[in-house]
Amino acid sequence: MTAGVHVRQGRASDADAVARLLVRTWRTNYRGLVADGFLDRLSSEEQAARQLRLMTRPGACHRVAVEGRTVLGFACGGPARDPADRWRLELYALYVAPRLQGRGIGRRLLEALWRDLGVQAAEELGVWVLAGNDDARAFYERVGGRPRAAGWLDLGNRRYPQVSYVLDPPGVGSKILAN
Ligand SMILES: CC(C)(COP(=O)(O)OP(=O)(O)OC[C@H]1O[C@@H](n2cnc3c(N)ncnc32)[C@H](O)[C@@H]1OP(=O)(O)O)[C@@H](O)C(=O)NCCC(=O)NCCS
Repeated sequence: MTAGVHVRQGRASDADAVARLLVRTWRTNYRGLVADGFLDRLSSEEQAARQLRLMTRPGACHRVAVEGRTVLGFACGGPARDPADRWRLELYALYVAPRLQGRGIGRRLLEALWRDLGVQAAEELGVWVLAGNDDARAFYERVGGRPRAAGWLDLGNRRYPQVSYVLDPPGVGSKILAN
């Protein structure tokens, strides 16, 4: 079913398509978790600028899953954004188009990003997730993530609980496979 999906390096020119994917994914997966007003007001233009800033951070790597020219998934990571987080590397974003979730694309993106980041044996990759995002939490636990800390995420005029996970590099207790 995903045979035609290919994971390649992201490019700055993917930012618009990534932003449209992000808006679609948030509106589908975060409905009920995040205020409707916030989701309805999400703008692809603003998200494109935000994604471009993430993608061009020093040391950041990014991967897209594409079928032909259609972007169906996105992963971006790099040096930790907040020194208070006790990890050196951070997964900034990971999204798969709603209709293709649960078919291994998230795992493929994460594996590819991991290789791009050149993660060494003892290096952990940290990620923050909305506490109520049970599906993403199940995904991170499935790929070997361990809960690390609790915090808050400000979106619009509301504050949401979030939790962090640390993922071990491939081969260190993680279910991520190198290929
Ligand atoms: C979270 C997300 C990136 C995962 O990507 P995905 O392509 O759906 O996940 P995969 O199909 O690669 O799943 C990898 C493994 O996790 C498991 N998994 C994924 N979602 C799961 C769930 N909801 N419950 C239990 N297991 C799950 C899969 O069964 C699979 O296990 P296996 O490889 O041992 O068979 C994707 O669902 C998504 O984009 N969600 C919405 C956006 C989001 O929440 N992103 C994370 C923000 S921090």
